[in-house]
Amino acid sequence: MRKNQQLSNKLKTLSQNLKLANKFNILLLLVFLGSIIGGGIIFSNVLAQKAQDEVATQANIFLQSMDSVRNYTTDDIIPLLQNQLETSTQFIPQTVAAFSARQVFDNIRKNDRYQDFVYKEAALDPTNVRDKADDFETQIINQFSNNPANTEQSGFRDLPSGKAFYIARRLNFDNPTCLQCHSTPDKAPKSQLAIYGDKNGFGWQLDKTLFAQMIYIPAGKVLQRANHSWWITMAIEISIFAIIIIVINLLLRRAVIKPIMQISKLAQAVSTGKASSDFEQKSNDEIGILAASFNRMKSSLEIAMRLIAQKNNQ
Ligand code: HEC
Repeated sequence: MRKNQQLSNKLKTLSQNLKLANKFNILLLLVFLGSIIGGGIIFSNVLAQKAQDEVATQANIFLQSMDSVRNYTTDDIIPLLQNQLETSTQFIPQTVAAFSARQVFDNIRKNDRYQDFVYKEAALDPTNVRDKADDFETQIINQFSNNPANTEQSGFRDLPSGKAFYIARRLNFDNPTCLQCHSTPDKAPKSQLAIYGDKNGFGWQLDKTLFAQMIYIPAGKVLQRANHSWWITMAIEISIFAIIIIVINLLLRRAVIKPIMQISKLAQAVSTGKASSDFEQKSNDEIGILAASFNRMKSSLEIAMRLIAQKNNQ
């Protein structure tokens, strides 16, 4: 309590000893610093959210497209080739939804703009080894498995190609027709075994969480753009505040400090009887009124002095 009192007394004396311009500047700087820091934090959050929304929208569009390719393969291609699939000795991977989705995405990646985008149906025990879930993806699959209500996860991840935004979606294994190729090797087409072997992609059980549909969107450039916009906006804000401080200081000096100093100098001279000129009233503002009041006081003082002098002479 006493310490607080001492501190507030010290601050009071400090502020009493400060010059007018310094008081103004300290106050302005505190207000500006507060708004720069507060504004900077809010703006940085808004930009980060905007950047994330941008990559999330792209990721969602790609996932939706890949789902459509999967459905198209299962609903339209398989029925068309059903007879051929049963008799053919050659496996037709194009009839596998996972394969066609991946192929379509690889075509998209041929475009330079999308070459760092990644689509993966990450599996714990994949048929095609390139779909093997890495540690990060395995963790997500386990989280899906532990919590059935959890159907989607998203966030940022560092990949060798840079920072990426990912969306992981639960991919259900709930259709008994899938078991033909994913339960035991003896049930799977021989032609499939010839290509993919009989070691992986088997023993899958219905309604178990075994994989996650993953999409990775490079986020480095989007985040860099957001960062750039932040710096530009901050630089503009700081420049505007600096200009405001300079202009206010100039105005303060011209309109308040200089006239007050002149009045105070003259008042001092008048008080010691060293000046006879009048206080100059340059304007009708408060300083002007002060000068006029001083002039009235000076005249009254002169009259009083004269009276005293006359009295002394008598
Ligand atoms: C005709 C056999 C066959 C059927 C039926 C089948 N799959 Fe597959 N599946 C495969 C093959 C072969 C691959 C590997 C494709 C590749 O090279 O990308 C695969 C790959 C996958 C993958 C990607 C991970 C991996 O193992 O490489 C998922 C996920 C998948 N299948 C799910 C399903 C689901 C769900 C069903 C049922 C709707 C299903 N599959 C039906 C043969 C089949």
